[in-house]
Amino acid sequence: MKVLFVAGDPKPERWTVPIKELLPEAEVHVWDPEGPAIDADYAIVWQPPAKLFEREKHLKAVFNLGAGIDGLLKVPNLPEDLTVVRLEDAGMSVQMAEYVLHQLLEASREMETYREQQRRGIWKIHRPIKRSEWPVGVMGLGHIGKRVARTLADLDYRVHGWARGQHELEGINTYAGPDQLGDFLESTRVLVNTLPLTDETRDLIDYELLSQLQPGAVLINVGRGEHLVEEDLLRALDEGKLARASLDVFRKEPLPEGHPFWQRSEITITPHISARTLRDATLEQITGKIRDHARGRPISGIVDTAKGY
Ligand code: OXD
Repeated sequence: MKVLFVAGDPKPERWTVPIKELLPEAEVHVWDPEGPAIDADYAIVWQPPAKLFEREKHLKAVFNLGAGIDGLLKVPNLPEDLTVVRLEDAGMSVQMAEYVLHQLLEASREMETYREQQRRGIWKIHRPIKRSEWPVGVMGLGHIGKRVARTLADLDYRVHGWARGQHELEGINTYAGPDQLGDFLESTRVLVNTLPLTDETRDLIDYELLSQLQPGAVLINVGRGEHLVEEDLLRALDEGKLARASLDVFRKEPLPEGHPFWQRSEITITPHISARTLRDATLEQITGKIRDHARGRPISGIVDTAKGY
């Protein structure tokens, strides 16, 4: 069996050495943009070039090194019938829940105010948090969204969830589809985006959507930069429709120098780190699935490419 590793890591051996250990039966190759076809059976990829599918015509499946497969689905010549497999959790949802909780607490527990007080040597106690004033709405109820919603609900925040389809989650009010989006937004002060990027969700977070949130609203975006209309976010902040935003993903990454977001004290910027791909867990999962697939066993995590997730 031949496995091709296609990701822009300057040290691909960090991946290929463990792949060989975990899958000794495989011949493991690193993508060479100028090289010949190797007739690979499986490819492990992150945002691969179109050339991959021009050259490798006998792939049985392609494994994405992340949970979001938008970077793979936008490759124009991705064969329609190719099995595409996304990463399932592999240590990501716990990191995401932790990140979202941190950003929520920054707002609900007024952490910036206490840091500012410390800088000025002030000992001043603010009134305790009322959880009823901080209802959270999680958009996207996949693996990650569910874990985020559950974590916050366990801390007694009032949590709502919204997704394209119906979901049942204990202790969480769920809303489904465009018809219920308005009700979901009206019940939400802290909006957390964990949606996959699809044609339907691109640019979803715009001025109109942000304006429907409760007063003192907060946005936490850990989905994709393209979900958010950037000028609309600035307008919502300027007009007080939104109090703050924590952004981990951007339309262009790295966020360009001089981008207006850098200057805004109400925006917290992190460089796409809310959930890192953990190499060991990721490769154990992917190599296990390659072995199962090669033996004709069923595998989970196959993407519905028509739906886009
Ligand atoms: C992912 C990511 O999709 O890291 O997993 O963004």
